[in-house]
Parts: sequence; C-alpha cells; structure tokens
Amino acid sequence: TPLVQIRNFSIIAHIDHGKSTLADRLIQACGALSEREMKSQVLDNMELERERGITIKAQTVRLNYPAKDGKTYVLNLMDTPGHVDFAYEVSRSLAACEGSLLVVDASQGVEAQTLANVYQAIDANHEIVPVLNKVDLPAADVPRVKAQIEEVIGISAEDAVEVSAKTGLNIEAVLEALVTRLPPPKGDDKAPLKALLVDSWYDPYLGVIILVRVKEGRLKKGAKIRMMSNGAVYHVDQLGVFLPHMTQVDDLGPGEMGYINAAIKTVADCNVGDTITEENKPAAEPLAGFKPSVPVVWCGLYPVNADDFEKLRDSLAKLRLNDASFHYETETSAALGFGFRCGFLGLLHLEIIQERLSREFNLDLIATAPSVVYHLFRSNGGMEELHNPADMPDGSVIERIEEPWIKATIMVPDEYLGAVLALCTERRGQQEDLTYVGNRAMAVYRLPLNEVVFDFYDRLKSATRGYASFDYQMDGYEESDLVKISILVNQEPVDALAFVAHRSVAETRGRAICARLKELIPRQLFKIAIQAAIGSRVIARETIGALSKDVTAKCYGGDISRKRKLLEKQKEGKKRMRQFGKVEIPQSAFLAALKMD
Ligand code: GTP
Repeated sequence: TPLVQIRNFSIIAHIDHGKSTLADRLIQACGALSEREMKSQVLDNMELERERGITIKAQTVRLNYPAKDGKTYVLNLMDTPGHVDFAYEVSRSLAACEGSLLVVDASQGVEAQTLANVYQAIDANHEIVPVLNKVDLPAADVPRVKAQIEEVIGISAEDAVEVSAKTGLNIEAVLEALVTRLPPPKGDDKAPLKALLVDSWYDPYLGVIILVRVKEGRLKKGAKIRMMSNGAVYHVDQLGVFLPHMTQVDDLGPGEMGYINAAIKTVADCNVGDTITEENKPAAEPLAGFKPSVPVVWCGLYPVNADDFEKLRDSLAKLRLNDASFHYETETSAALGFGFRCGFLGLLHLEIIQERLSREFNLDLIATAPSVVYHLFRSNGGMEELHNPADMPDGSVIERIEEPWIKATIMVPDEYLGAVLALCTERRGQQEDLTYVGNRAMAVYRLPLNEVVFDFYDRLKSATRGYASFDYQMDGYEESDLVKISILVNQEPVDALAFVAHRSVAETRGRAICARLKELIPRQLFKIAIQAAIGSRVIARETIGALSKDVTAKCYGGDISRKRKLLEKQKEGKKRMRQFGKVEIPQSAFLAALKMD
C-alpha cells in the first residue's frame, strides 16, 4: 500500500464514553469480521477486561476501507485504555499514530480523562477529530458539548462527527473523516530499518509476540533484526498483521503496523519504546522512543504457600512481558518469607495484577499495604528511595524525608463541589485553581500521593455519587514530617503491616488500624495485644480476648452435615492464615487493615 493510502489512528476517550463500542463498529463497517464473529467488544479480549468493562491493554487492528474517492485505504487502529492508571499505555499507542479520534459522550461532556488524553495526543503532534458519541440518548446535548470542547480543550469542534456507536449512526462519516482529515504517515522505504517496539506479550501457543510500527525502511520475514537498546539479535520467523485475526505477511513498510514472532526467549530483550533495526544494515540512531514508565505505588506480594515462590517468579515474568509498566524485584520479609516487591502505576493497576495472578496463574497471594516511593536523606549524606515502609530507619539517622506530590484535576457537578473540596482538604490538599464550565466545576489541587493511593477514588466516588471524574500527574517531591508506624501483634512487629504517614494523622490512623485488626483477627486460644507504635512509643492498643471453645460447639450436637460444613470452613480459613509467632492473621487483614475511612 502506498503511504498516502495509510492512516494510523488511536481512539481516546474518558472511561465509558464508548471507545470500544465505536472501535467494534469501525471493524464491522470495514467487513473485517463476519456477523457471526462479531462478538461485542472484540478489542477487549482479556477476560478481566470484559468483566470489569474496561480496556487495559492497547490492541491494534488493520482495516481495509474503500473510501468515497474510489481508493482503498489501510486504517490501523490502536485501541487505548481510558483509566488514569494506564496513561503510560496511552502514550505509547499515541507514539505509533499520526492522529486521534477524540470520543466524547454527548450526554456527559468533557471529563477529566478526556482532557488528560487529548493533551497527550496534542503533545504527540496528533491531528484530532472530535467525535460526539451517544447522540441517540435523549440527554445528548450536541451544541453544549461542542462549545465545551472548544472552550475547555481549545480545539475546533465545528466539524465534529455526531455518531451513535450503539445504533451505528454515521459510522461511515467517521471513516471518511479519518481518510480526509488525518495526515498519511511519512518514511523512507530505502532507509535502514527503524521500527518502534510498541508492545510485547506472551502468547501461550506462539511465545513472545512483539507489536511494531515501522517508521523507516522495510521489515522482512526471514530478516535478522537487532534491538538497539541492548544489541540482542533475532531471526524474524513470522511477520503479520491483525485483521483482527493474526494474518501473516512477507514484509512491512514505513507507516505500517504489525507483529513479529522471532523465537524470543529472554523477556528482558523486549523493551517497549526500543528501536528495532536490521543487523546487516543498521540504523545509525534509534528513534526518540518515549519516556519509560515509573511505578508510583509499591507493595509486597508473597505466596501463601512458600512452595509457590518459583511459580510466582515465573508468573511475574510472564505478566511483565504483557505489561511493561509493571516492575518487580525479590524481597524477604520476616513475617512473610520470600516474595517480591512490585511496582505499579496506581491502585487499579495493582488490583488488576493481583487478580490476574490469582485467576490466570492460580496463585494464592498475600499483598502488603501499598506504599508510594519516598526520598530518604540520611544525616551522613546520600539520598535513597524508600519503597518499603518496613525499611524506614530510626528517626535519629534521618535528616529529612521527601514525599511525592501530584497535581489532580477533578471535574464535578456544582452541587457536589463542597464535598470534593472537603475531601481534598482532609487529605492535605492545596487548591491551585477552581473554574466553571457550565454547571460543572473544575478544581485543580496539589495533593500528597500518599493520601491518594489508598482509597481516594472510592471516597470521591461515594461523595459525588459517581459524578466526579479525576485525573492526575506527578508533580515533584517535597519535604514532609513523616513517621513510620509499626504494628505489633503480641509485642512482635509485623513488618508487612508497617506504614508511613504524616505526623498529624499518625495517631488517628494507628488507632483505626488496631481497631480494624481487632475485627479481622479471629479470637484464638490466648489473649492477643495489637499495638501501633512510632519508634518505641505506643500510640494505640486493642486487645482480643481469649477463646477456648471448639467452633462446632454451637451446633448443639444435632445436625452432622452442618457440623462437617463448619469444620470444612474452618479448614479453608486456616489455609488463608499466616502465623506470626503464635498468632494467626488472615490474609484479608493485610490490605483491608490499611484502607482508611
Ligand atoms: P473503556 O474501554 O472502559 O475505556 O470504556 P469505553 O469508552 O470503551 O466504553 P464502552 O464502549 O465500553 O461503552 C460504555 C457503555 O456505553 C456501554 O454500556 C455501551 O453499550 C454504551 N454505549 C456506547 N456507545 C453508545 C451509544 O452510541 N449510545 C448509547 N446509548 N450507548 C452507548
């Protein structure tokens, strides 16, 4: 296909504005799948994505579109995730395209992630075509949302395409807009090969698959390729495109997207953002690539059953291949044994990885309380990153600690603004800006990330009955009066429950956690003391009374099947407990204990 007949585009949108539904319609309109194959939301193909109704991995599809000008165009669609935690995946999809469809729900209007995504697209020099979706809904207000796009985003909405992805209204107009309004890719067919490594994942049948966007030169089946960041060399066994079924091709030229299968064994060789060149005719310089992702939240993951450690290591390696933004390293805990310290882009990301480990890999895990990355300056000089609260040294050797801050944008209907401002203040927020777009307020706040990671979304959602939207960017580090709170169970510190908090809230949180643990730790045959302490100073204490009765005692001896069930249940409970000294703590306590409310 000549370059002028190729268009590479992403779809960007706030969550639930209809991005996946629109993608399905475009695929259907181009006849890429038969009616029978056209399950809804073709692109959300991970089981978990379907269940949660969100897109996690960026996917790509190649469509053939016979346009009104009589020519057939190749349209490469890159799907992008909508959730704030996955901004990184959005940025790499955008780097592979020249333009974006900006989907805005005409009944909702511009939301926080509409803004975040569109700014990323503008940064990537994209041509942007606004698409107003859900015009079939009675609540749709096209003129209002057009005005909003112009006012808030600052791009023209005059030629916005009005569609209903649900009914299929005006889908043809979207395809025409792609052809007529987006620029074709550029690139020299004869130049040395430069292909951007956009994504990689592990396919259980094929092994490692790499998704690339060719920028310069020609990638051929059978060629010897080299990863420019680490010099690893591979032989291209298979080359193909997603139609959306995997379909083999002989070569891919500039502007094209496709996959490589090259019998790659070393996961570490596939760095997203890397440039792939040809071994025999290498490019002099790699592509600009994009910024590597930086995990902002860390937690420890430990197998409940110590024998599962190797299996966990294996599974993490496979997940990492599917998700370059996920990081991990080995760690040992006095309480939990051998495990891994894992870094995530946010709490949702953490939950998803945890869920995938248990579902896809059948692993029973304990997760320790999530923590942000602190900068620790010792009195004897030198800065170190603190990923694990348990590692925080004694106050006397610390000169100062800095914590990460974020800049958050929250959009909310007027009537809930008060609740949002109260929440931000409670979390040590500093207001930067407050403006109105119609009857929606847009508040910009600086907040310590530490105050956001645990349950900020949940609180924001319930305080605004789900009407607020939220997005954030990292905004540097600042010195702060932080202390480590240790949790002791019968005088023994449980390293996995230690956490760092601002001094002003340390006591309240210490007390809340002791109270929570009292609920979560079942009574045992002896008295259990639960304490929270800063250094050697105890700031909170709860006691769980001793219990000596057999659980079946309350069955009055009569019903034998009921008795068996209870015993079974007790056994099940045992499996999920960890032993601390003499005390057993249920797995659920570790995460739940640190959720504040
Ligand atoms: P993520 O993948 O989670 O980012 O969401 P998304 O933007 O892909 O949204 P999705 O396509 O899953 O659509 C969200 C909801 O809106 C679904 O229940 C769709 O059925 C519905 N929806 C999508 N398009 C339309 C439309 O044109 N009209 C109406 N009435 N509903 C729509």
